[in-house]
Amino acid sequence: MTDIPVKKVMIDTDPGVDDAIAILMALRFSSFQVLGLTTVGGNVPLARGTRNALALLEYAGRTEIPVSRGSALPIRGQYGYSFPVHGASGLTRRLPNPSSRPIDQRAVDFLAGELGKQPGEILLIALGPLTNLANLLTRYPGSLEQASGLVVMGGAVDVPGNVTGHAEFNFYSDPEAAKMVLSSGVPLTLIDLAASRQVAIDRQAARELKPRNNLGGLAAQLLNNWFRRDPGRQRFFFHDPLAMAAAFDSTIVNTQNVQVAVETADPVRLGESRISGRPGLVGVVRQVDQDGFFRLFDDLMSPDQGAIQGHG
Ligand code: BDR
Ligand code: CA
Repeated sequence: MTDIPVKKVMIDTDPGVDDAIAILMALRFSSFQVLGLTTVGGNVPLARGTRNALALLEYAGRTEIPVSRGSALPIRGQYGYSFPVHGASGLTRRLPNPSSRPIDQRAVDFLAGELGKQPGEILLIALGPLTNLANLLTRYPGSLEQASGLVVMGGAVDVPGNVTGHAEFNFYSDPEAAKMVLSSGVPLTLIDLAASRQVAIDRQAARELKPRNNLGGLAAQLLNNWFRRDPGRQRFFFHDPLAMAAAFDSTIVNTQNVQVAVETADPVRLGESRISGRPGLVGVVRQVDQDGFFRLFDDLMSPDQGAIQGHG
């Protein structure tokens, strides 16, 4: 087998069922070195999301990975949370209370420290509202530029949203932060809803999953319990897992480099994202290689020796 270089990654997250599946995928990718998780309010309050991050790592036997708490509030107002989708705990399976604790250093300081220690080496993957990244831009100018790359799940670029007709959840939760990051001049790949709606699993397919390792087992339970909680649910969209998969293998997405504007003023269109110019530094995903994504998802289910390396 050829040696594939290790990719150092940090994951900013608000777990969340699909965040959890994305994190489990990251832990399975043998070429990923996960340097830390930073948490942010979003799907659930910050304390709950932090607890979920710690519980996931403990379940996976990966408590050496530090978890750092980020922002409990968006730049303006409060997060709306997403209990109807992710459940009151944020996860659809109860995990034991973690015995590990978050590190003392807060997310923005932790991110700045790690990026500064290894400039050009760390790929940042943002799966929640962009508050922590916006605060990094404000508090540590030049720091975000030190990432080797940035992959963001968020937005519904020129397509209908999932919170309002206009806005996607992560951007709606902190539109100011989304605007700051997308207009910062830092190049990024944007997995928006038009992209993540291309990868879904239905109830029957979830039932037929045959996980052969404990991380895959947890992902399958999270999915099946999510379907069980509401008989009306037909499809689970892999929003955050697609961002993780694209971070692992950039060849599974085709992007178009554009400028993206985020609405922060009009209350009706709050959080809306639209193309405002071409070219630009935001690589909006236009096409997804669905088979490529599902190959990576299936690897999450495969026996332990199947842990996979990456490229792209
Ligand atoms: C995004 O919002 C959250 O509910 C999901 O975790 C994902 O990050 C999808 O709109
Ligand atoms: Ca998320």
